[in-house]
Amino acid sequence: MSQTRQLPETDRVADPVKEAGRRRTFAVISHPDAGKSTLTEALALHAKVISEAGAVHGKAGRRGVVSDWLSMERSRGISITSAALQFEYREHVINLLDTPGHADFSEDTYRVLSAVDCAVMLLDSAKGLEPQTVKLFDVCRHRGIPVITFVNKWDRPGREALELCDELRDRIGLRPMPLTWPVGIAGDFRGVLDRRDGEFVGFERTSGGATIAPEHHMSADEAVERVGDEWQRAAEESELLTESGDDMDPDAFARAEASPVLFGSAVQNFGVRHLLDVLLEHAPAPSARPDERGEPRQLDEPFSAFVFKVQTGMDPAHRDRVAFARVCSGEFERGIVATHADTQRSFSTKYAQQMFGQQRDTVERAYPGDVIGLVNASALGVGDTLHTGKPAVRFPGMPQFTPEHFAVARTTDPGRSKQFRRGLEQLVQEGVIQLLHSETRGEGAPVLAAVGPMQFDVVNQRMESEFRSPLKLEQLPYTVVRLVGDPGQRSMLHTHSSEVLDRADGTTLAVFTDDISMRSLQRLKPELDLRHVVADTE
Ligand code: G4P
Repeated sequence: MSQTRQLPETDRVADPVKEAGRRRTFAVISHPDAGKSTLTEALALHAKVISEAGAVHGKAGRRGVVSDWLSMERSRGISITSAALQFEYREHVINLLDTPGHADFSEDTYRVLSAVDCAVMLLDSAKGLEPQTVKLFDVCRHRGIPVITFVNKWDRPGREALELCDELRDRIGLRPMPLTWPVGIAGDFRGVLDRRDGEFVGFERTSGGATIAPEHHMSADEAVERVGDEWQRAAEESELLTESGDDMDPDAFARAEASPVLFGSAVQNFGVRHLLDVLLEHAPAPSARPDERGEPRQLDEPFSAFVFKVQTGMDPAHRDRVAFARVCSGEFERGIVATHADTQRSFSTKYAQQMFGQQRDTVERAYPGDVIGLVNASALGVGDTLHTGKPAVRFPGMPQFTPEHFAVARTTDPGRSKQFRRGLEQLVQEGVIQLLHSETRGEGAPVLAAVGPMQFDVVNQRMESEFRSPLKLEQLPYTVVRLVGDPGQRSMLHTHSSEVLDRADGTTLAVFTDDISMRSLQRLKPELDLRHVVADTE
């Protein structure tokens, strides 16, 4: 479609505030194997984006649907990139942002969470809270993102529903507010008691869970007849929940202190409709976003968006680079010329796309909460702002995360040292890796720092295939990082178990092999001014 095409009058005057009001932008946070890909597919099925789920209910079949971009990802069968899926449901627009699901996650996952208004915490009914779920939940709590809990895999043996609720309260301090309650123990799933209207919603298995599970709605009396004891038990437990004050409290949810809880089976497509309905009824719509001075950018101000992710190598046929931006205000119309707030340069949005996995659609217009993929956006980096109109606006940059893994990079081909430097600079701009400088190691041996070690594999692969500058990475044994309060003390920090590294933002970091070596150095030199690195992950 040409950008000069005249749009019908009715198309041109959509109200960004109204459009924002019918949007819900969220991500699923979970530990690998909890069923995120399956749930994504089930949501798409409910929204009629696809007509049949899990043509093959196996990883191999599904991976193509979700994200399958880098060859490394394909060969490992894991998702390490992020995409966004948009669909309509009950006159609302749902934006589902994909978070990488591997345990060895990188900063990407955190950045995706900066672009959502709500998160769905997916738990495996047999495992409850798992390490990565807790880590991601901590990020949500830190950012004040409300969380809806979906207990998955109720169709097979698992733990007790009350025990899972206690775990939320005791381990992560999140008050559970079950909206549905399972009838029948995990593995003998009969359906759920809808605590909002007291109805029984019976569950019926479908062959392979390929289609939406039929729901049988029954009154409490009919439920007693149908599933007697199990219903009785569920009803009693539900009363207990009411007595202990665990009914839905929308304000506590909005303050991210309590979480609506739903039970279901993604693979059987049961409970997925409840989840969509709760998203519509309770999850926050996009609202005014504070700019870097803390001033809210109102939804009806001119177009503005920030880049939360940059991705390359999505299209094997072209060496492309896509910047994913979340719209914060106004109306985006493909072809508009925006200002890149960080350089004050113009940026043409002729090539804007919406994409999910390998499927791409050209996006013509977008509203607050939507994600647009800007193709060949070589000027855009993670955290950058685009806007139209005056005055200029700039959203806060992405937080620098505390790295936990370090490696020295050296080119294996000295003739290509220029490409080596350029490649690393680009990967830093994309947020793939942090680059640190060591006075003692010198220019030719920068230190790369990452939140997850898989980021190093990505660097290795991309430096070789994209920049034709293969490198050698030597992992460093450091695990503890502190900010150096007084750079004059740097000489004290070079020991056999620690060294000093400088970050491009002007901060100086001290890295130690372990906590013990840091503490013993501090005992030896009590005047050392070492501070915790304050980042979004803490
Ligand atoms: P992930 O993206 O979170 O890593 O999880 P994914 O959807 O790939 O699901 C992990 C496994 O859990 C898959 O089994 C999937 O079929 C299964 N699963 C997901 N949801 C449910 C559910 O509600 N009930 C049950 N019983 N299983 C569920 P797999 O063995 O890896 O593959 P498959 O061959 O069984 O599909």
